Formats: sequence, C-alpha cells, structure tokens
Amino acid sequence: MTDSKKTAPSLSLGTLYGVGVGPGDPELITIKALRLLKSAPVVAFPAGVQGRKGRAQDIISPWLNPDQVQLALKFPYTEDRQILTEAWKVASEEVWLHLQKGRDVVFASEGDVSFYSTFTYLAQTLQQLHPEASIQATPGVCSPLAAAAVLGIPLTIQAQRLAILPALQSVAHLETALSWADVVVLLKVSSVYPQVWSVLDKHQLLDHSYAVENATKPDQVIYADLSKRPRLQLPYFSLLVIQVRP
Ligand SMILES: C[S@@+](CC[C@H](N)C(=O)[O-])C[C@H]1O[C@@H](n2cnc3c(N)ncnc32)[C@H](O)[C@@H]1O
Repeated sequence: MTDSKKTAPSLSLGTLYGVGVGPGDPELITIKALRLLKSAPVVAFPAGVQGRKGRAQDIISPWLNPDQVQLALKFPYTEDRQILTEAWKVASEEVWLHLQKGRDVVFASEGDVSFYSTFTYLAQTLQQLHPEASIQATPGVCSPLAAAAVLGIPLTIQAQRLAILPALQSVAHLETALSWADVVVLLKVSSVYPQVWSVLDKHQLLDHSYAVENATKPDQVIYADLSKRPRLQLPYFSLLVIQVRP
C-alpha cells in the first residue's frame, strides 16, 4: 500500500459583480444586470437609513426571490474619511465571507456603478484586502441621462460641452464650469441649492435651468424655470440641468 496524502478539493472563489440598476424605474435595469441579480446566491446593496429601504434595494426588490441571501451593507452618510474607510473595510469583509465560500455576490448600485457610486470604494477596498478577489462591473443608466429623458430634452447636441459637478463639494467651481460648458448638470444639490440659485441668478440662467427630483420614479417632480424658486426644498435624489448655451 502506498502512502497517499489527501488534499481537500479546492473551492473556486466567487466573483463580486457591481451592477448599475438605473435611476429608479425598475424597468430601467439592463438585461445583463437583471440576469446577474436573479441568478446570484447573494445580493448586496447599501443599507437604508431609519428603517427605510435603500434606493438600490427598493429598485431591485421586485426582481429578487426569497432564496437569495440579502446583504445590507452599511455606508454611513458622512465626509469623515476615517469612518468611511472603516465602513468600507467591514463591508468588504462581509462580501469576502461569501466569495471565499465560492458564492458570487451581486452588489446593486443606484444609477451607474462607476458614476459617483459606493461600489467603487467597496471594490477598491476588497481588492486591497484580498488581491485575489475577482471583481466585475456592469454599467447602468445614470441620473443625468434619466433626467434628460424625463425632461424631454437632449442632454447635449452637436459639439456642446457637458460639465457634471457634485454641487455639494463644488459650488465654488460652478462659476468656472459656467464659463466653458454649454450644459451643466449639478448632482448632490439639495443642501446647497440656495447658493447655486444665487450663482444662476447672477448669470441670468434661471430660466434655462431645470430641477428634477426622483427622476423616473412615481414621485418624480420637475421644475422647469427656477426664476421664482429661490428656496426649493429638494430631496437628496435631485439634480439640476442648466442649459448655459442652448
Ligand atoms: C452619489 S450620487 C449617485 C449617482 C448615481 N450612481 C448615478 O448613476 O446617477 C447621488 C446623486 O445622484 C443624483 N441622482 C441619482 N438618482 C437620481 C434620480 N433618480 N433623480 C434625480 N437625481 C438623482 C442626485 O443628484 C444625487 O444626489
């Protein structure tokens, strides 16, 4: 009899798929994202706050089945880098627990997955902590494109130049963008709307500006012409489209 050393069969690692699930209307999920979402043993998404569903979770809920593990990952709403870094590590390890057991994890991201998305931080942190992890991204319909569609306008035509700014961090850069861009889209505008309104007023652009809340969702609201709206209470999921040189 010869000595034989038995080794455990090697289990291949699961893959983390980041999928963009669109701006709100569950029918604006791509066929590929839907296939991944329906077939994954584990579906992850940013956890909601105050007992409410998160945005991505809300969008994908009609497509999930009860056998799938649902992983609500906590990403605090803060600018504090230390708190965020810790949250990304915790979330990455939660995902890794499944990947190392050979289970694919599909992370649903509102809109597009590489456009101001939490998925980027999750993927980067996972790759740092576990370089062997396999990660793939599937694009989705992002909010500026959804806004143009519901406004019934082209976002850009011909040689127009487009600037997209996260207003919360860039009100100071808005003037510069207005000096060169033909169309400006402002994301994350809700908390700085009064300052933005003043800049648009100074440049006489209020009647060329649109605000869109919750584009493509049943509670969508559109304001065309912001001239008489200096103090709009916009929700987080709102943006402005400014036609600087139509
Ligand atoms: C963190 S960014 C996420 C962007 C997202 N990944 C995308 O592809 O559109 C969040 C900002 O996107 C904008 N946004 C996302 N979805 C929206 C929607 N359905 N309607 C209006 N604005 C939206 C808002 O400006 C919000 O503050």
